[in-house]
Amino acid sequence: MNGLRLLGTGRALPEKALDNDAMTQYVDTSDEWITTRTGIRRRYFCAENETTTTLAIAAAQRALENAGLDPQAIDCLLVATSSGEYVMPSTACMVHKALSLREDIPAMDVGAACAGFLYAVETARALLIARGGRHALVIGAEQMSSLLDMSDRNTCVLFGDGAGAAVFSLEADAEYESVCGVRGDMAIRVGGPRREQPMAMDGQSVFRFAVSAIPQCVQQLLGKAGLALEDVDWVVCHQANQRIIDASVRRLGVPAEKFYKNLDRYANTSAASIPIALDELREQGGLATGMRIIMVGFGGGLTWSGIMMRV
Ligand code: COA
Repeated sequence: MNGLRLLGTGRALPEKALDNDAMTQYVDTSDEWITTRTGIRRRYFCAENETTTTLAIAAAQRALENAGLDPQAIDCLLVATSSGEYVMPSTACMVHKALSLREDIPAMDVGAACAGFLYAVETARALLIARGGRHALVIGAEQMSSLLDMSDRNTCVLFGDGAGAAVFSLEADAEYESVCGVRGDMAIRVGGPRREQPMAMDGQSVFRFAVSAIPQCVQQLLGKAGLALEDVDWVVCHQANQRIIDASVRRLGVPAEKFYKNLDRYANTSAASIPIALDELREQGGLATGMRIIMVGFGGGLTWSGIMMRV
């Protein structure tokens, strides 16, 4: 199986952090409501000099450094984002220039909302196999604050800005499984005909979708590999809500410690949440070589995706 292995990770957050109390300047809410309904305690919002692009570049530089890889060795660059600054050029094009990557490689954005990072990882693998090449740089970067209606308490307290990046290598014998899916649905939407509408969300139907998507992806990956959850060291799923993770843990009947959690500190950073979590785990020494991880993304679209690999 032509699978990917993780060589390095990096992350970047805006300088400004807002705790739950700070959100009361925008809407009628409270630390108590946000904490008990979501587990979120803090999020970062970009200042004027920070964007999806600046965060993506900083995270990518750290991932390349962590991987010990010359940027010229990158054969494919993908940026998962729903909040790029421009329609053209893509965020990937601007990252490509900032890092002085080779000109003979594909570089593009991938839009699959909060499942975007894993869609991008799977797309990178397919591109490496189809075109030849060994190394992929995959970034999840978001300025979610640019999409929010700061007067809508149903959504504005849930999201944050940030970026995570990972460098992968294609290996002929690497263990690797993936699943993905989509169901056209307007339960979360942003944009509209003139890109004028901020985010709107039916929170309860998204919640119901998420608590079935995580266990389903995990079971499908394990089924494909003929493994049990005991064979997996970490489940790193999209960080949207503590209660979504808790419900998935109960449905799967596994120890909660197997699920990495950091949403209390970053809120929902959409496509950035999984690579940020990977980088934290690696930094803390939680990702020893050879460990088996499952990653699960789910989000607007609706989209979902899961990948199992060894690091
Ligand atoms: N502060 C205070 N009250 C709030 C609030 C806030 N930030 N946001 C909503 N409320 C209110 C609602 O207006 C409602 O009031 P009402 O009963 O007077 O109408 C009340 O809280 C309960 O709302 P409800 O929607 O029933 O709460 P909930 O328990 O379903 O939790 C979410 C709401 C959004 C936290 C939850 O549905 C959720 O997490 N959904 C998934 C969202 C998500 O993760 N999306 C991204 C996926 S990638």
